[in-house]
Amino acid sequence: EFHLKPRDAGLQSAGLFGTFDKQQLQRGFQVYKEVCSACHSIRLVSFRDLEQLGYDEGQVKTIATDWQIEQPSVNPETGEPATRKNLPSDRFPLVFANDVAARAANNNAVPPDLSLMTKARDDGSDYVYSLLTGYGPQPAELLKKFPDAKTPAGLHFNRYFATLNLAMAPPLTGTDQVQYQDGTRATVDQMAKDVSAFLTWTAEPNLETRHAAGAAVVIFLLIFTALAFGAYRNIWRDMK
Ligand code: HEM
Repeated sequence: EFHLKPRDAGLQSAGLFGTFDKQQLQRGFQVYKEVCSACHSIRLVSFRDLEQLGYDEGQVKTIATDWQIEQPSVNPETGEPATRKNLPSDRFPLVFANDVAARAANNNAVPPDLSLMTKARDDGSDYVYSLLTGYGPQPAELLKKFPDAKTPAGLHFNRYFATLNLAMAPPLTGTDQVQYQDGTRATVDQMAKDVSAFLTWTAEPNLETRHAAGAAVVIFLLIFTALAFGAYRNIWRDMK
């Protein structure tokens, strides 16, 4: 009873006819890049996929080359493991070499890959938004009812998280944590919406095509139904 259902993030991609707001996806990518990517990978996304957000080839190349974590590779001379700069055709690199390294850096928790997060949870887009804006103190009624449920040290209370306590500290903490280029005010609420929009796109880049196909099918079926009804009336016209 203390766990909450996600709040509506009001994204333009929601609903049967939803589309992506590319400006918002770019802002969301900026939040991912400057905040979330310190811990979370998006291993199913390639740098060149970002062209769908409205970046041109040159911008994508710069984003790839400047990415903090390099691509794993091997030294061709010695066969030793090495790294090289990212190319537009590369997937986003993993943040940690393995789960042991991830746990060591995150208080024994593994930050999950975010590529499919908005699909992995119920109402995933709303969930990401709600989780990021859902930290707060434990309600008094909860502690009264379950005195042993005090959030353990190192965990953070959040009513949108299934177990109420998660290892991720609030990643979005104040207005202007990122500097948006398009003049949008970077409040915590705005940044949370934007990154949730971005992660909706990473999980389903073809959402717009699917919605358009669905709409076309429904329109076709409506016209077909009208035609069939007309034909039926025509065929039986003289049979009174
Ligand atoms: C878990 C999103 C930043 C560390 C999660 C989850 C989401 C998420 C959706 C999964 C919750 C679930 O399993 O249902 C984000 C976003 C971020 C961000 C959108 C940026 C705005 C960070 C940062 C760190 C971090 C900067 C590290 C300092 C973790 C860890 C978990 C986690 C350790 C696992 C928590 C647990 O299972 O208890 N994050 N995160 N996250 N995140 Fe983040």
